[in-house]
Amino acid sequence: MIVAIDGPAAAGKGTLAKNVAKHFNFAYLDTGSLYRAVGLTVLNQGGDPSDEKIATKVAEEFEVKDIFAIMNNPEIRNERAGSAASKVSVIPAVRKALFDFQRNFAENPILENGQKAKGSVLDGRDIGTVVCPDADVKLFVTASTEVRAKRRYLEQKEKGLDVTLEATIADMKIRDERDSSRSTAPLKPADDAVILDTSEMSIDEVFGIAVKMVEKNQ
Ligand code: DC
Repeated sequence: MIVAIDGPAAAGKGTLAKNVAKHFNFAYLDTGSLYRAVGLTVLNQGGDPSDEKIATKVAEEFEVKDIFAIMNNPEIRNERAGSAASKVSVIPAVRKALFDFQRNFAENPILENGQKAKGSVLDGRDIGTVVCPDADVKLFVTASTEVRAKRRYLEQKEKGLDVTLEATIADMKIRDERDSSRSTAPLKPADDAVILDTSEMSIDEVFGIAVKMVEKNQ
């Protein structure tokens, strides 16, 4: 069973994907963490994430075997890593370098404790369209720009970061535009995806819908 959850930044897809994976004891892969880790590595080397040559080299040499350590690393969650991820993810050769790992994870899902799982949940931008077009369940989770920016703003305030709502909305618009307009694997729902607008839905409501969809396919 493969569950694909795509959508723009801060739409709630990560929380949903994690909760669904936990409920069914499926393996969870946050594919954004791969792009974030590549982006951050480029920055830490003093490079520019938009530099195709450098970003591709980092992605090709990237060790994804420690995926759980990567996903659990708080450093990849900050906006610096998010913005760098959005830049490296525009580069087709970077996407190509990360594709096989994602595909393999979906087909051979492994839990954090090393056990094999009966299914996988992958969240990202192009899971239902490119990485797993054959997924059993496809969800496209979205919300208005204002709602998503507000969620991200509150999250960052809680972490004690010095941010404004206006700047967060502006950043969100730039990131959405970059993710949606790139020529390779742009952010868009698969034709057979179920679209969930979470602007006025609670986490529990969205979770309930997703669980029913997975149960129907079991
Ligand atoms: O979901 P996220 O915010 O962690 O993703 C960070 C960036 O990575 C996002 O701006 C676009 C890119 N990304 C992608 O292009 N394809 C994916 N499957 C996941 C993330």
